[in-house]
Amino acid sequence: MILKAKHKALVFDSGVGGLSVVRELRRLMPDIYLSYVADDGFRPYGNKTEAALKARLPGLIQTLVFATQPDIVVIACNTASTTALAEIRAAVKLPVIGVVPAIKPAALSSSRKAIAVLGTPGTVKRKYVGKLIRDFAANCQIVLHGSTGLVDMAERKLAGLPIDLEALRAEIQPLFAGVRIDTVVLACTHFPLLLDELKSVAPYDVSWVDSGSAIAKRAQSILGDVRPGIIPDWPQTALLVGGQDDETRAEMFAAFGFAKTVSL
Ligand code: DGL
Repeated sequence: MILKAKHKALVFDSGVGGLSVVRELRRLMPDIYLSYVADDGFRPYGNKTEAALKARLPGLIQTLVFATQPDIVVIACNTASTTALAEIRAAVKLPVIGVVPAIKPAALSSSRKAIAVLGTPGTVKRKYVGKLIRDFAANCQIVLHGSTGLVDMAERKLAGLPIDLEALRAEIQPLFAGVRIDTVVLACTHFPLLLDELKSVAPYDVSWVDSGSAIAKRAQSILGDVRPGIIPDWPQTALLVGGQDDETRAEMFAAFGFAKTVSL
């Protein structure tokens, strides 16, 4: 048996959204060994209370860290990160990177100083996001919009099912109904997976900004200080908590480098 030394990361989301972050991690660190977890049975996070997420996430992540033994944890979910990052960090003794809305870069690059933040209903009403807006986008007009419909559509797309473009157009219509914006912050990791479709139904051109590449750079910088460990001689695996594993889903995870999917 050949054992190789590599950096290992655990990437966590409520579903397939974290794969938009996986894409960036693999682009920057082609050699990284990833374990992926989709909390399928508890999705969507976007309509859960703060109390419910705070009660669930620290213990679940602690168990998953024990099972997968990563060097770092990436909470590839804006809803979880803006709600329970401090509690998750307190529960595990590893670096934990959270994904939060890219409001700062969007405010800097917006020439009209008018941006929309498109997240889940939970994320757009979190205090954390209010603070990001006050700290980094006080000079901007902000349109906030929460959608769980888009989360379902991203899940459908990656399950190989068709997307209703008229329903997608209706989901994002509130972003374009008032002040003329020039930038949309994709404040849910599911949404970059729908980028082509979003562009095709937007009424005019805007910049679409997400946090994926910044998160990959942050992970690379933290892992630079960690000695790579021996990895197990089993394939990179996607673990579906309370979820269904079928052939289409397994093929989809395989396309993101997870040769095995397991339902827990
Ligand atoms: N992908 C998640 C996020 O970034 C949440 C989707 C959901 O379960 O509502 O917010």
